[in-house]
This record gives sequence, C-alpha cells and structure tokens, in this order.
Amino acid sequence: MRAKYVSAGVALLLAQHVSAQLSCSQETFAGVSLPRGEILSVVTELNNTLPAQQTVNTWPIFSNTTTLTCKVTIQHTHPGWNDTVTSYVWLPSEEWNGRFVGVGGGGWAGGRVDGLGYHVARGYAAVTTDGGHAFEVADDLEVWAHTSKGNINWYGIQNFAAVALDDATTLGKAVVEAFYGSGPDFSYWTGCSTGGRQGLMLAQRYPEQYDGILATCPAINWDRFLPAMFWPPFAMSQLDYYPPPCELEAITKAAVEACDAQDGLEDGVVAWPGDCDFDATTVVGQRITCENNSTRVISDKGAQLANMFWKGPVSEEGVSEWYGLYPSAPMLGTALTVCSSETECEPAPFSITTDWIQFFLLQDPEADLSSLTHEEFSRFLRMSTNRYSSVIGTSDVNLKDFKRAGGKIISWHGADDELIPFLGTAQYYRRVLEADPNAADFFRFFSVPGVQHCAGGEGWFPGDALDSLVDWVENGNAPDILVGRPRESIEGEGREAPVCQYPKKLRYLGGDPDVVSSFECQ
Ligand SMILES: *[C@@H]1O[C@H](CO)[C@@H](O)[C@H](O)[C@H]1NC(C)=O
Ligand SMILES: *[C@@H]1O[C@H](CO)[C@@H](O)[C@H](O)[C@H]1NC(C)=O
Ligand SMILES: *[C@@H]1O[C@H](CO)[C@@H](O)[C@H](O)[C@H]1NC(C)=O
Ligand SMILES: *[C@@H]1O[C@H](CO)[C@@H](O)[C@H](O)[C@H]1NC(C)=O
Ligand SMILES: *[C@@H]1O[C@H](CO)[C@@H](O)[C@H](O)[C@H]1NC(C)=O
Repeated sequence: MRAKYVSAGVALLLAQHVSAQLSCSQETFAGVSLPRGEILSVVTELNNTLPAQQTVNTWPIFSNTTTLTCKVTIQHTHPGWNDTVTSYVWLPSEEWNGRFVGVGGGGWAGGRVDGLGYHVARGYAAVTTDGGHAFEVADDLEVWAHTSKGNINWYGIQNFAAVALDDATTLGKAVVEAFYGSGPDFSYWTGCSTGGRQGLMLAQRYPEQYDGILATCPAINWDRFLPAMFWPPFAMSQLDYYPPPCELEAITKAAVEACDAQDGLEDGVVAWPGDCDFDATTVVGQRITCENNSTRVISDKGAQLANMFWKGPVSEEGVSEWYGLYPSAPMLGTALTVCSSETECEPAPFSITTDWIQFFLLQDPEADLSSLTHEEFSRFLRMSTNRYSSVIGTSDVNLKDFKRAGGKIISWHGADDELIPFLGTAQYYRRVLEADPNAADFFRFFSVPGVQHCAGGEGWFPGDALDSLVDWVENGNAPDILVGRPRESIEGEGREAPVCQYPKKLRYLGGDPDVVSSFECQ
C-alpha cells in the first residue's frame, strides 16, 4: 500500500517517476475508456494555479494556492443519448497522498471545479463532473431540461441524478492510474446539498465506487422536498398576505429567544429545535423595525403564515405531506418577498422549486403558480413522487451492498437549514436504522445546531468531518462526535462544541461554554 503521507524523499522519486515516464499529456491518457461511454475529447494542462476556493464541508480558505497540477478534462457521450458529459480530474504531480476524492455540486450544478483545488493542495487527486449540462447553463432550465417543447430530457435528468457521477468516478480512477501507474488506495466523496444527495446516490446505486462518503445537508427526498418548498409561497397566496422580510425575521428571532435556553446555554443557538413548540400568534402586535426604519407590528396573518411554514405542507384534509423547517431556521430561504413599499410585497419563491414544478411536473416553463388551488398544490407532490422518486429521490434505505463493500458514510445536517428540512434527513436515517439496526457500524448521522444550509449561522460547523471520515475508513476509528467551531474562524479558532450523533442532543453542563468538555451529547 502506498504511504499515506508521501515523505520528501519519496515525493522526489514519485516526481521523477512522473516526469520520466508519465507526463501530463494526451498520450498518457489515450487508454482511458468507459464502459457504455464514448470518449469525445481529452484535454490536459500542467499548471500550478489552484484558484481561490469555494469549499464545502471544510473550513473556508480565502487565498489562492499553488501546487503543480495536471488538469485533465474529459468529455464523453453515451451513444444514442445525444449527451455530452464533462469530467474534470486534477492530479497533484508531486506529492500525491494515494487518495482520490469526488467533489459534489450544488443546486442544478453537477459539480464544482473551484472545489477541486482545496483537496489537490492537500495531496488528493480530485474529480468533479458537470452532470451532463455545462456549469454556465446549469440554472438555465430552458437549455437542458427539455429535448423539445415540453418533452422531458430523461437522459439529462438521469445523468444529473446518477449516471454522470458513476462515470466521472470511473474516469477519474482510470486517469489516476494512467498518470501515477496505480489506482487510488482510498476513494472519498464530499458534497453538500446536491453534493450530499449525490454522495448518498453513490452509496445506494454505485456501492463499490467510494470507501468513504461525506454527504451533508443532502438534497435527498428530492421528489418530496422540492415541490414542498413551494408551500410557503402557496400559503401566502392562501392567506392573501405577502409579509415583508422583516416580519418573518422578527418572528424567527422571537422563536430563537423563546427556545434558546432549553439546552442550558443562552447563546443565540437553539440546540434543541425539535423541542421548540413556539406559537407565532403569541407575538402578534409586537412592534418591529423594518426597511428604511419604518415600523410596523407583527400581524395575525404573518403569525399564521409562520405557523403554517413550520408545520410544513398539508393536504386539503390537513394531512402532513412533508416536513417544515425548524423554528430557528431562517424563513427567507423559501418565504422571501420583494417589496417596493411598506405595504406592497410580492413573493419571490426559491428558483429551484419553481423550476421543478414548471419544467419537470407541468412541463410548461410559462405555467402560472401565483394562485394555485390547494388541490393543485397537493397534486404536485403526488406527481413528483410518481414520476421521479426512482430517478432522483435518492431515498432508498437499503445500503447492504455499500456496507458489504466496506464503505463508511458520515452525514450531517444543519438544524437551521433554511432550504432543506433537517427532519427529512433525520427520517431517512431513522429508516436506515429500521432496515439495519447495526447501520451505525458504517453510517453515522450528526445533527448540527445553529448551522444553516451547508454553512452560515451562529452554531458549530464540523469542518474536520472529512478528516474524521478518512480516519474511520483507514484506521477504523468510528467518530462518536464531530467537533464544531464557528465556520468563519480559521481552522480552529474560537468556540468549540461537540456535534452529536442523531438522535442525541447537545447539552451544556457548565463551565467554559467554548470548550467541548463543557457539553455532553445526551
Ligand atoms: C491555470 O489554471 C487556472 C485555473 O484553472 C487558470 O485560470 C489559468 O488560466 C491557467 N494558467 C495557464 C497559464 O494556463
Ligand atoms: C486569486 O487569483 C485571481 C487571479 O488568478 C485573482 O483575480 C484573485 O483576486 C485572487 N484571490 C485572492 C483571494 O487572492
Ligand atoms: C442532439 O442535441 C443537439 C443539442 O445539444 C441538438 O441540436 C440535436 O438536434 C440533437 N440530435 C438529435 C438526433 O436529437
Ligand atoms: C435608520 O436609522 C439609523 C439610526 O437612527 C440611521 O443611522 C440610519 O441611517 C437609518 N437608515 C435609513 C435607511 O434611513
Ligand atoms: C426604501 O427606500 C428606498 C429609497 O427611497 C426605496 O427605493 C425602497 O423602495 C424603500 N423600501 C421599501 C420597502 O419601502
């Protein structure tokens, strides 16, 4: 097995080996192929620039770095699908640590090239894919969602959901082998949101590809939560009330104040949001300050909207159809309005939920969603599940093949996620445990108080989770907790707290509130 951390001497040998026999040129990769795929092009570039990173799941890094890197871009198609998938593989040319990492995307983007450099600078060979639609057009559903007017691009959605991930991984490993002379010792996935969903899709559908998967705030249950995300704008139209952002912000603030102390520590972080039964009607009439220093009071309809928001979508009969967000999560991710004056506000729904309903459910980009009936709204959830659950739902709990292959999964979800309900991921994990009571032997899920969607919030961000995963896979050290710190502090400054394995809850015991030993997971 290759040394995990290549010593200076070995690095020199490896570098010599690379420059003597393997070069960052098209010929090196001429033998790279893909079962069921046809390579269209291979472009290589030896370059020492790793641009400033937009990292997920790790501490943010703000500066550009340099590491001599072979950047390989491969395009392929699946004959008959009329598709083009692009995979980006970056190879550190001097100090490869023997590991390979797949980097997930976000929203409609299948991957992120600017997420590769962080890992390359740490010695990993890294891959990401555009998922079958170029990054520049990922958010432009007109370009790729349909093959012709109203007709779903089924191959395109299959690529985005699953197939391109498998392909990029297979290609990435082949590129690694061609360049270094042997394949990776260990392979990891890291991604948040769409990238988190991709990680769990890989475990579910391609269980041999990765030894370790870090899947955070995962956009699993895609067929459920995406139409459900239209519930807040729908509720506004039902109430015929479009509150200015300040009103919902004030209600969230009141909820946080009411529930903050439950965990034993008043610090602006609600560590037990599941126990926060805040009723927004209790703050009706409270005076608040809004945009341009105007003042108003929290209205009865604003409070009703907040209560509907937290409850989540219900059918016409009042039966729950999906989860709401926790009261400590910002409401403006999915209940945003844009106001031209103190009294005139319009809904500004999150674009991906309207994309989903218009392009994939109604197959009509022009469809008007501003005054739906309750029956129409509820029907979206049924249509979505019926058509897409097996395509992109990513909620299969049978992970037997992944377990058998020896894989490990770490997942975490920010309790204050303002887009994807924490409770959907918690439900998935409970279902995994029901299917396999010993699942914690290979899959651990952590709840992260005070952290929003992938980042943000006042809570404790577990920025070392990838290192914990590597330690679990390579040394057998299963993590009981993750260590969280405010994300914007650089690599370890400031307050620390344990991030607990679900369903354990973080409790403050006393003492210095900035150190792990002052808390317990109960
Ligand atoms: C090196 O790579 C960076 C990032 O991919 C790119 O912006 C830059 O143009 C490349 N430099 C050269 C000399 O090709
Ligand atoms: C990183 O480098 C690019 C040019 O390659 C430059 O535009 C950018 O400002 C740099 N960012 C930082 C944070 O240094
Ligand atoms: C293949 O896709 C391109 C656009 O990407 C389109 O112009 C062309 O008509 C398609 N060909 C077939 C046979 O569908
Ligand atoms: C709001 O009031 C504060 C303090 O009175 C003042 O500093 C600020 O400029 C005002 N903002 C606007 C938009 O009027
Ligand atoms: C705040 O004031 C600006 C400048 O007068 C105006 O354009 C904007 O519409 C105002 N916002 C609201 C919500 O009234």
